[in-house]
Amino acid sequence: MRLPPPVRAAALAAVGGGRLQREFAWMSWAGTVWRLEGAAGVVYVKRAADLKAERERTLWLAGRLPVPEVLGLFHAFGDDWLLTRAVEGVPLHDRSLGWEPSRVARRLGEILRDIHAVEATGCPFGEAKKGNVLIHGDYCLPNVLVKDGRLSALIDMGGSGLGDPQVDLAAGVWTLQYNYGPGYAREFLDGYGWPPMSDKAIERLRRRYAR
Ligand SMILES: Nc1ncnc2c1ncn2[C@@H]1O[C@H](COP(=O)(O)OP(=O)(O)O)[C@@H](O)[C@H]1O
Ligand SMILES: [Mg+2]
Repeated sequence: MRLPPPVRAAALAAVGGGRLQREFAWMSWAGTVWRLEGAAGVVYVKRAADLKAERERTLWLAGRLPVPEVLGLFHAFGDDWLLTRAVEGVPLHDRSLGWEPSRVARRLGEILRDIHAVEATGCPFGEAKKGNVLIHGDYCLPNVLVKDGRLSALIDMGGSGLGDPQVDLAAGVWTLQYNYGPGYAREFLDGYGWPPMSDKAIERLRRRYAR
């Protein structure tokens, strides 16, 4: 897998030193992601058909939520390439945390409550209507990073904007079941402060998240 020369040059400029010391690429949900390490830092490159929405939203969210710094958007080999600076932290389901699934579920809910409470008047993305809040848009475990037990970064913000809070609640229920099996939705919804739901309603909510 090759990086287009302008992307490589911008990555190199951002991480310092004359060359990339370590490169690692893998297939993600949306496309391909590179982790590039240089003498003075780490950057990520994401390749997908269209990353303009993610770039715009990430820029708008800076200062409101902990999101990666956008270093550039390029178009090459028929795709978009988004270059961001590495953020601190590990995903909420990372084994290094040593957290039980129920603890992960509760933290996932608490963090989501804080995201939905962010002041978002005038947000140009999504729809400003009654009941809508600032949503993440793809609220699954790999996109939520923590350090020392606290939220350190949110990534993958291409679907963020004003929206129905249940969009993120559905993703949370889905991602917990995907990673740990059923049984953790209640802890998540409690952490968020959502009113109690029946098993049937939880399953209906989970199915709203289409992958
Ligand atoms: N700026 C960043 N800092 C740290 N990790 C990142 C960064 N960008 C991407 N990653 C890592 O790459 C993974 C995939 O990136 P993401 O933007 O979520 O792609 P996808 O849309 O395919 O899920 C993330 O889950 C995270 O582990
Ligand atoms: Mg992701």
